[in-house]
Amino acid sequence: MACAGLVWGGRNPLRLTSAALGVQRSGHYATGIRLVRRSGTGGRGIMPQRGIGQGLGRLSGRPGGCSRCLRSPLKATQYNGRMSSPISSPGQLLQKDDWRLTVAPMMDWTDRHCRYFHRLLSPHARLYTEMVTSAALVRGKQLRLLEHSQQEHPVALQLGGSEPEELAIAARYGADAGYDEINLNVGCPSDRVQSGRFGACLMREPALVGDCVKAMRDAVDVPVTVKCRIGVDDQDDYADLQHFTETMIDAGVEVLVVHARKAWLQGLSPKENREIPPLDYERVYRLKREFPELVVVINGGITTVEQVQAHLERVDGVMLGRAAYHDPYILAQVEAALYGEPMPARDDVLLRMRPYIEAELARGTSLKHISRHLLGLYQGEPGARGFRRRLSEGAHLPDADWRLIEQAIAQPRVAA
Ligand SMILES: Cc1cc2nc3c(=O)[nH]c(=O)nc-3n(C[C@H](O)[C@H](O)[C@H](O)COP(=O)(O)O)c2cc1C
Repeated sequence: MACAGLVWGGRNPLRLTSAALGVQRSGHYATGIRLVRRSGTGGRGIMPQRGIGQGLGRLSGRPGGCSRCLRSPLKATQYNGRMSSPISSPGQLLQKDDWRLTVAPMMDWTDRHCRYFHRLLSPHARLYTEMVTSAALVRGKQLRLLEHSQQEHPVALQLGGSEPEELAIAARYGADAGYDEINLNVGCPSDRVQSGRFGACLMREPALVGDCVKAMRDAVDVPVTVKCRIGVDDQDDYADLQHFTETMIDAGVEVLVVHARKAWLQGLSPKENREIPPLDYERVYRLKREFPELVVVINGGITTVEQVQAHLERVDGVMLGRAAYHDPYILAQVEAALYGEPMPARDDVLLRMRPYIEAELARGTSLKHISRHLLGLYQGEPGARGFRRRLSEGAHLPDADWRLIEQAIAQPRVAA
């Protein structure tokens, strides 16, 4: 009974055995993974073991995908309400600074093409995938959902779900595929997500989220982090957020990304939930003051370099969402301000996309799936509208290829 390679045994992960997923294409392999109970975890923890075949890490083109083989002697920051720095991680020591600049998970937007493009603009930013549900990963489609390129690192896989064992398996798939972090979504307010009992509604169930985090941490060596809101519906006192945070810390969370507005689960669309509930940055700053060892990343409504710098006086990291997507050059500007990197010319960024685009076209990707992420590159610059129009009109044509990007670059640069 193979489900894209995995046999799912309901709530009991004992002796889950997958068939080999096989070779996807040259140089990109997947693995079978066997999960057994880890002794001494009260039956809750599970320890994935290597199965047959190559590591999923090969998916990313990165050598040494087996995170356990890279286990650091400093692994396992032990929590007894306190956290030691640096962050626990298999092959490297991660520091709080590793979350200084991050790009938000955004469904349908931050796919692998988008992340590749963002990486060219910002060598340091930590990039997040779109949310992938643990069910989708465990029940199939692992290869497509986990695919990413080596250039994207550091890159975090965001998971949605609320079944600890299923999340543990999904996290393990992610770690084996080479992701540098597994992030749990506790902030998405869409109806679909609520009916699946995950996303923002989980803020009402800190204990369950804690169980999810513990199971995931037992399954992987990369950091397991959480992205949440400051509250949901009427559960929006600071004390609620405080309790949620304490529970996360007890479960082993070392990095908390906080979207600084609450979510209204009834009556507001996801889009409205990103705009209508007011931002309350002070609440996030307070969290950082009260949990100084926790890496706190602030998110929501951050649109300028100056705002980024101001937040970094108060918290450890910022997460840019819509600003990074609609005006991606802001990533180069923030990069220059924070790390002193020279700002690349916009045209040069596009030219550096060429090998990637040509390789993707050669494997059958349609240009429009990549070029849609590039539309905002000249935002605010003369000729931005012509660039966008040239790309959007041409990219859906069947023979669209790199020449279209060149033509768009060559558009006259005059103010609209
Ligand atoms: C199109 C879109 C899709 C999103 N999808 C996700 C998602 O998959 N997971 C998640 O945690 N947040 C998601 N978000 C929320 C963002 O990660 C972020 O928290 C929100 O946009 C606020 O940040 P901003 O004001 O910088 O955009 C999404 C936002 C947008 C605009």
